[in-house]
Amino acid sequence: MQYRQLGDSDLTVSEISLGTWLTFGVGIEREKAIASLNQAFDLGINFIDTANAYGYGAAESLLGEALKGRPRDSYILGTKVFVPMSETDYGLSRAQIEKQLDASLKRLNTDYVDLYQCHRYDVDTPLEETMEALSDAVKAGKVRYIGFSEWSPKQIQASLDLPGVEKFVSSQPQYSLLWRRPEKAVIPLCAENGISQIVWSPLAQGVLSGKYLPGDTPPQDSRASSDKMNRQMGHWNRPEVIEAVHRMKPLADEAGVSMAQFALAWVLREPNVASAIVGVSRPEQLAANAAASGLKIDPALFEKAEAIAAEIPRA
Ligand SMILES: NC(=O)c1ccc[n+]([C@@H]2O[C@H](COP(=O)([O-])OP(=O)(O)OC[C@H]3O[C@@H](n4cnc5c(N)ncnc54)[C@H](OP(=O)(O)O)[C@@H]3O)[C@@H](O)[C@H]2O)c1
Repeated sequence: MQYRQLGDSDLTVSEISLGTWLTFGVGIEREKAIASLNQAFDLGINFIDTANAYGYGAAESLLGEALKGRPRDSYILGTKVFVPMSETDYGLSRAQIEKQLDASLKRLNTDYVDLYQCHRYDVDTPLEETMEALSDAVKAGKVRYIGFSEWSPKQIQASLDLPGVEKFVSSQPQYSLLWRRPEKAVIPLCAENGISQIVWSPLAQGVLSGKYLPGDTPPQDSRASSDKMNRQMGHWNRPEVIEAVHRMKPLADEAGVSMAQFALAWVLREPNVASAIVGVSRPEQLAANAAASGLKIDPALFEKAEAIAAEIPRA
């Protein structure tokens, strides 16, 4: 496993990290989740990403239990705030940040998180209030560094322009061979300002593994077949996308790697990406994905894959 510095922080994160959305505490068995977490550490993965809203706290609670007994400084833990936890609990107000952070720490069974991320931008709260509350959380020692997910360049710039508050060190956008939107403005702005990308759905929820075949029903044990996990998969689980990924597979073969490794290596070719956060439904997938770290793939093969992706009709 290779590691990259996370923005202007002193955190060094593994190029492949483990995410917990839909899987931990929700869509996969507890034993498989714990086995995947243990496997992550065996593979040299040191960054775990979660959120208060994943399973309404269930993912954090499972992590809190599973991480018991591991030295706290042996892993980097990131969680998030913003998404509704109840009809009245959501957003980035000072009151919510204080309440949700304490609840996350309790579930995670720890005194601090390494990275506290704003899951989205809150248009109903003044940015100053959010940034001051986050800065106070850092001063109190409950949070080491702060990040955001899916903020627009304008919102990112506004946070950078605020004096006297903590600076963000990470941005968590969706980014993959099939979703290149951050390249235009978010990545250049972040690169100039000491902010790294830690990207979500780098495998387009498993579609970029190439296991979905044109014209076939999805494999029984896949996310697309799981009622608990497939609800937000429609954008990728389309015949045109499956067909395009099928056409990319020979490029991965030529590189001598699996399609999933090819897709992860593509994400990691971008120097501003510090880590690709993968989800897994079983430990074997994590081992296969971790092997993407450090791969050197001929850029010409990537260009061919990009050209195939560019031809996919919009949904
Ligand atoms: N900030 C945000 O708004 C946001 C949004 C979404 C996710 N995230 C974060 O990003 C993480 C990753 O997102 P994601 O789960 O959508 O990522 P992903 O890595 O694109 O997809 C993960 C799924 O793909 C399948 N898979 C993974 N490796 C595979 C392999 N080698 N071969 C075949 N299938 C494989 C597994 O599903 P099956 O085996 O069930 O098919 C797995 O659960 C999340 O856990 C979360 O921490 C953040």
